[in-house]
Amino acid sequence: QEPIWIGMLGLGTVGGGTLHILQSRAEDITRRLGRPVKVKKVLVRNLQKPRSVPVDAELLTDNPADILADPEISIVVEVMGGIHPALDYLETALKAGKNVVTANKDLMAVHGQQLFDLAAAKELDVEFEASVAGGIPIIRPLKICLAGNRIEVIKGIINGTTNFILSKMTSEGSDFADVLKEAQELGYAEADPTADVEGLDAARKLAILASIGFNSRVTLDQVYVEGITGITARDIEYAQQLGYTIKLLGIAKESEGQVEARVHPAMIPSQHPLATVQDAFNAIFVKGDAVGETMFYGRGAGDLPTGSAVVGDIIDVARNIINGHTGRIACTCYHEKRVKPIGQ
Ligand code: NAP
Ligand code: HSE
Repeated sequence: QEPIWIGMLGLGTVGGGTLHILQSRAEDITRRLGRPVKVKKVLVRNLQKPRSVPVDAELLTDNPADILADPEISIVVEVMGGIHPALDYLETALKAGKNVVTANKDLMAVHGQQLFDLAAAKELDVEFEASVAGGIPIIRPLKICLAGNRIEVIKGIINGTTNFILSKMTSEGSDFADVLKEAQELGYAEADPTADVEGLDAARKLAILASIGFNSRVTLDQVYVEGITGITARDIEYAQQLGYTIKLLGIAKESEGQVEARVHPAMIPSQHPLATVQDAFNAIFVKGDAVGETMFYGRGAGDLPTGSAVVGDIIDVARNIINGHTGRIACTCYHEKRVKPIGQ
């Protein structure tokens, strides 16, 4: 049968995990969909660089047109990161009638609406489950499964790198700079890890979650941001003596018609479930008026966990292509400005 052809933009940590899952689960994916899903080209910067997954040299390209101008490619998977040229490539892809899957929170937090508008005009899908909390399903649950609720609170640990650093500083007394280096080597950190340690990565994710959860447009500049660079070993030790654990939290809540969104380190009672979240794991509480409290927990960063979310989106979009349903479900609910977000 004719495959659904994919073009990938990027083959780093997330791209490597995604390609590995697509290759190792190929038979199962074909059985699920009744048609194979195959990668036709992968855009990289450096064609000579060793890759974490076995890849034929002819699969790689450094020319974006090999993907964006190929009429056979119907899904563009963006796992390269950053705003430019990623945004330009995705706009070109959508204008050319290609569906989009992305793991890029920088892009979605600021330019998501632009992409949704382009997709809506062409009845295409834009999926971005991997952009928040790595392998944990949270976008789709908020967008679809919990849509019958008035969401009251979304709060939790949504950055793996800082949780890895704080966990190691707490349990092993490790040095901040050493653990950050380890997090970079494990592929958890952003290309510029300042975004992780200064709280900006978590703020981007919170803006995305709050926009969907509160059916409002919560922009990045409306999120109060404070990172963990000011946290010392002594702060951690004193907190422990008082029975608390320091974690970087993202908190968004709606009260009295206003949405408040903030990211900052917080002292949490050491018995609290959030205090026990270790390594690069994430945990997100969502409270809805009908469902009550729910908690989403799992690996928030890394190649295979994040690849898991990307491949889930690819399969969903492929199924929509096969059924002729792309663009049928609005990408998200950013249109309605129901509440006035407050920030700083
Ligand atoms: P990465 O390891 O740095 O990989 C980026 C890839 O994109 C590399 O293969 C690179 O090519 C390619 N690339 C970058 N700029 C390019 C350009 N201008 N032209 C062509 N190719 C380019 O990044 P990553 O950690 O996989 O992250 C990718 C995206 O996923 C980011 O948006 C990130 O925020 C998001 N994300 C990451 C994680 C995680 O755990 N790492 C989790 C969730 C979401 P070369 O290999 O040739 O340099
Ligand atoms: N740098 C991010 C983190 C990757 O550490 O959480 C996952 O989005």
